[in-house]
Amino acid sequence: MTTIGIDIGTTHTVLATNGRVIPLVPVEERVSYPGGDFPYLLPSVVSYPEDGSTLVGGSARSRRAIDPMNTIRSAKRIVGARWGSEEVKRFEEHYPHQLVRVGEDAVGFRTRHGIVEPADVEALIVRAACRLASLEPHDCDAVVTVPVAFDEAARAATAEGARRAGLREVTIVEEPVATALAYVQRSSLRYAAVYDLGGGTFDVAIIECDRYPFTVVGHAGDAYLGGDDIDHLLADAVASRYRDAFGWDLKARPEVFDRLVLECEVVKCALTEMDYATIELDQIDPMIPTRDRLVHIDQARLLELAEPLIAKTLEVCDEALAQAGVQTKDIQAVFTAGGGTRLLGLNERLRAYFGKRPRSDLDPMHVVGIGASYAAARPKAAAAVVQVPG
Ligand SMILES: Nc1ncnc2c1ncn2[C@@H]1O[C@H](COP(=O)(O)OP(=O)(O)OP(=O)(O)O)[C@@H](O)[C@H]1O
Ligand SMILES: [Mg+2]
Repeated sequence: MTTIGIDIGTTHTVLATNGRVIPLVPVEERVSYPGGDFPYLLPSVVSYPEDGSTLVGGSARSRRAIDPMNTIRSAKRIVGARWGSEEVKRFEEHYPHQLVRVGEDAVGFRTRHGIVEPADVEALIVRAACRLASLEPHDCDAVVTVPVAFDEAARAATAEGARRAGLREVTIVEEPVATALAYVQRSSLRYAAVYDLGGGTFDVAIIECDRYPFTVVGHAGDAYLGGDDIDHLLADAVASRYRDAFGWDLKARPEVFDRLVLECEVVKCALTEMDYATIELDQIDPMIPTRDRLVHIDQARLLELAEPLIAKTLEVCDEALAQAGVQTKDIQAVFTAGGGTRLLGLNERLRAYFGKRPRSDLDPMHVVGIGASYAAARPKAAAAVVQVPG
């Protein structure tokens, strides 16, 4: 029997055992981002093409612009949410999916495969992750992570999704607790801050970690703030500049603009290490007029676009500290989680804010999954987890 840790992210899913992350992307689908380790991560996307198949991961993600209604992403945002709730209304404003009421007050996606609940989408993702890791869910117990902000219903629905995937015993641990567990083996610290900037969500938690169970004593976040916002800002900037210069609108066709957004993500990641990056617009839009097809974006431009987002996250840090009743000088360690923390310039800003160097020696895109796998393996640490009744 194996015990696995699973981080079902809004953007990516990570699976780990005993502190080791298992690669989840088939070799032929691996795209290498400069400074990124995406081969280990499964995009949390499910798509239902017309041929009746079900795609999960990168192949599903590449259909998001051509078949948005049948390509479900960010299901995590409404897992366990009630029909008519604020979360559901907000989701509808942001995503093209068609939501329907299921039973009394649950929510489902209408797809060409029928109605699919968010927990079903998560089950498909978990099952695909297990298959890619050559694990049989029926032989595995799992620790699954959830955001601190998840209420009981969202926690239960997440556990339910994991059970529908076939996993045996499912335990829930909060994401920042998992991150702290990944870094802190035997604690000599009192307070740690976990700063988690994912693709679509931002969370900061103050963790008391001088004894088990580690406890979240302050938490704040923004459910609609993340690395993806930068991709959109960059894509908007490129599109406006091109429209003003040449009268050609890269936003006119959604699939073209989506390709531009995906390419801007690659550029954003590349700029963590390179001075500038180039987009070849004819690869994005084959119909583009043949003048000036190359767009260069440099680090200064990215820093400028990202600054308001970074400033906003630091305000959220103020809130979490206030809630915990501590000051930055009381924080003995800062741990970063989420791929968004690789953003150019962010580490320096965190260092200035907290007065100490944030730790990112564990890959921030893996750390939550790694911590979950430790929680599974370490009985004392496991006291930090919350069992969800089946
Ligand atoms: N080098 C980099 N520079 C900037 N952003 C990066 C870099 N590498 C990855 N990212 C961003 O990290 C984000 C994905 O992070 P991650 O996989 O941790 O999110 P997630 O956990 O699935 O989402 P969430 O936390 O919202 O549930 C994407 O927006 C991606 O572009
Ligand atoms: Mg995450």
